[in-house]
Amino acid sequence: MSEREDKTHFVDHITGHRRMRRNRKADWTRRMVRETRLTVDDLIWPVFVIPGTNIEEPIASLPGVSRMSVDRLAEAAKKAADLGIPAIATFPNIEMEKRDGTGSEILNPDNLLNQATAAVKKAAPDIGVITDVALDPFTSHGHDGILRDGEIVNDETVEQIVEAAILQAKAGSDIIAPSEMMDGRIGALRHGLDAAGFQNVGIMSYATKFSSGYYGPYREAISTSGLLKGDKASYYIDTANATEALRDAALDVEEGADMLMVKPGLPYLDICWRMKEAFSLPVFAYQVSGEYAMIRMASDNGAIDGERVMMETLLSFKRAGCDGILTYFAIEAAEKLAKA
Ligand code: PBG
Repeated sequence: MSEREDKTHFVDHITGHRRMRRNRKADWTRRMVRETRLTVDDLIWPVFVIPGTNIEEPIASLPGVSRMSVDRLAEAAKKAADLGIPAIATFPNIEMEKRDGTGSEILNPDNLLNQATAAVKKAAPDIGVITDVALDPFTSHGHDGILRDGEIVNDETVEQIVEAAILQAKAGSDIIAPSEMMDGRIGALRHGLDAAGFQNVGIMSYATKFSSGYYGPYREAISTSGLLKGDKASYYIDTANATEALRDAALDVEEGADMLMVKPGLPYLDICWRMKEAFSLPVFAYQVSGEYAMIRMASDNGAIDGERVMMETLLSFKRAGCDGILTYFAIEAAEKLAKA
């Protein structure tokens, strides 16, 4: 027996002809057998808007992300459109003096969010604008709904967000994305939008939004972290519950949602997969602020190759069945994809 045979005696016997590594041997074979791809069409860019002009204000817990004034946002949207990013999702940082217990500023047709939508549609008509109707940027307590006697009241909140959605549609919003997890909101929104003549305005439901610790930096970005009393567990889904999440999504589908979302993303890839299997609708994942910050900060500290992990996580959403990803990395990823 030669020395070589002796060393491979056990391995040869087990692997036989079954060698997975043949397809992995070179860049060209790997490209040939690649099952999932990320393209710029998969990216939705969440952005933060503040009052004023010519302002770009960094957010400490979201390195690389800034709050932008409406004029700057319009320019940024143009850049995103030029890169081929299909849509942006806007979130406003409302002045404290305009926030109150019911979030009434959301019913101001000319509020910051609606101003941003109108400016973006004017500057970059071909990029989609997705707007949220949750009340949290507008309330003095940071909750997503109307707070009464210690409770987030469901039906009254739904009535208000329907009115808000109609104003957002009037300002030019293409897709309403309700993130506040009230019951019955999708049906009410569809009904309200249709009655107001906005049959072509879509609904992307934050169908499965989990009660999560990953939202921290977002709350800094829209300045609700200091305001929020208690948590959102009475309306967001418990991390432990997958069948409940699917049931919640099924109701949204029945009520007329056009697209579904899973939020946060990476810790809930099983939900992405199950949603895609269960419903014949596009499913999007929101790689939320805490997910972004973990990658960014670990990268800034030299622990990981941030660009590589960015691309790896975005591709993982595609592998898990998602049709796209809301991500603060959208511009960076689009630039990288354009170079490749
Ligand atoms: C609330 C809302 C949240 C996010 C967007 N809208 C969650 C929250 O503050 O409870 C989180 C987005 C992110 O973390 O990137 N309506």
